[in-house]
Amino acid sequence: MTPASVKKRACVIGWPIEHSRSPMIHGTWLKQYGIDGAYTREAVQPDDVMDFLAHLSRHGFVGCNVTVPHKEAAYKAADVKHDAARAVGAANTLWIEDGKLHATNTDTYGFMAYLKQKAPNWQQADPRVVVIGAGGAARAIIYGLINGGCDEVIVLNRTEARAEQVRAHFGEKIKLMSWSQCNDAMTGAGLVINATSVGMNSEDCPDVDLTRVDDACVVSDIVYTPLETAFLKAAHDRGLTTVDGLGMLLHQAVPGFEKWFGVRPTVTDDLYQAIADDVRRSQCSSSD
Ligand SMILES: NC(=O)c1ccc[n+]([C@@H]2O[C@H](COP(=O)([O-])OP(=O)(O)OC[C@H]3O[C@@H](n4cnc5c(N)ncnc54)[C@H](OP(=O)(O)O)[C@@H]3O)[C@@H](O)[C@H]2O)c1
Repeated sequence: MTPASVKKRACVIGWPIEHSRSPMIHGTWLKQYGIDGAYTREAVQPDDVMDFLAHLSRHGFVGCNVTVPHKEAAYKAADVKHDAARAVGAANTLWIEDGKLHATNTDTYGFMAYLKQKAPNWQQADPRVVVIGAGGAARAIIYGLINGGCDEVIVLNRTEARAEQVRAHFGEKIKLMSWSQCNDAMTGAGLVINATSVGMNSEDCPDVDLTRVDDACVVSDIVYTPLETAFLKAAHDRGLTTVDGLGMLLHQAVPGFEKWFGVRPTVTDDLYQAIADDVRRSQCSSSD
């Protein structure tokens, strides 16, 4: 028996998990919408993840988010794999429905929703689209771009074999350019996305020449620590529209919250500022 009054619980699993900002995001929404629910961090070791997910409900959860290094395991563990998870081969959002474990990947939604918010006209001029990276996040973004109507996505990745896997997966709409052709790829670009981890907790920057892109180019970096990466700063200095990684993080949390708690939450400016402050605080303390 599951009385309506039983508090719904969701969590984020990872190893390590202390860094996750998901409890802050979902905790804010639970409070804001007056929902008697809970969202916690659960440290799950790699050896234990399949067992944990097989017994998610017995652990008292209606679903969970999944972070590094469990996204592929979560995909494998799911009984029902939704399209976005299939496209990436990894899952970040799970829920139990009719006794079955469902899996999706909400990074696609998170990226596309925030791109639309920050640069609503990005597609009007049918831009040359360049994705730097070929990891899980790059795949989620490429899936969103193709589904959103892009006829061609140029993909560059340091390890070219991985970019070739992306092309094999998504097909002819992917145009591969070699790492050494980075700057040629930038010529006339209208949307450039850094989907690598370059710039995370450092001042490193993808080595591309932003003077070559279109003046109306939109530049996105999905890294959000720091909030303004060196790549975004270079784009900003060049006068381009920029789309940061924090907004993607906030928007990717929306579908999971709705599945677990039955309310579609809004990403407000206040929430953005609260999480941005937390990122700044952690950056300051790590540089102390
Ligand atoms: N904002 C958000 O909501 C959000 C969501 C998901 C991920 N992310 C961030 O996105 C980044 C990528 O995540 P992921 O899950 O895709 O990771 P991943 O699957 O491990 O892929 C990492 C990517 O970064 C590239 N890379 C790493 N170090 C590099 C270097 N020194 N030079 C050039 N390329 C390098 C890799 O290239 P190789 O293939 O050559 O190794 C690969 O393309 C992470 O920083 C993650 O935190 C943000």
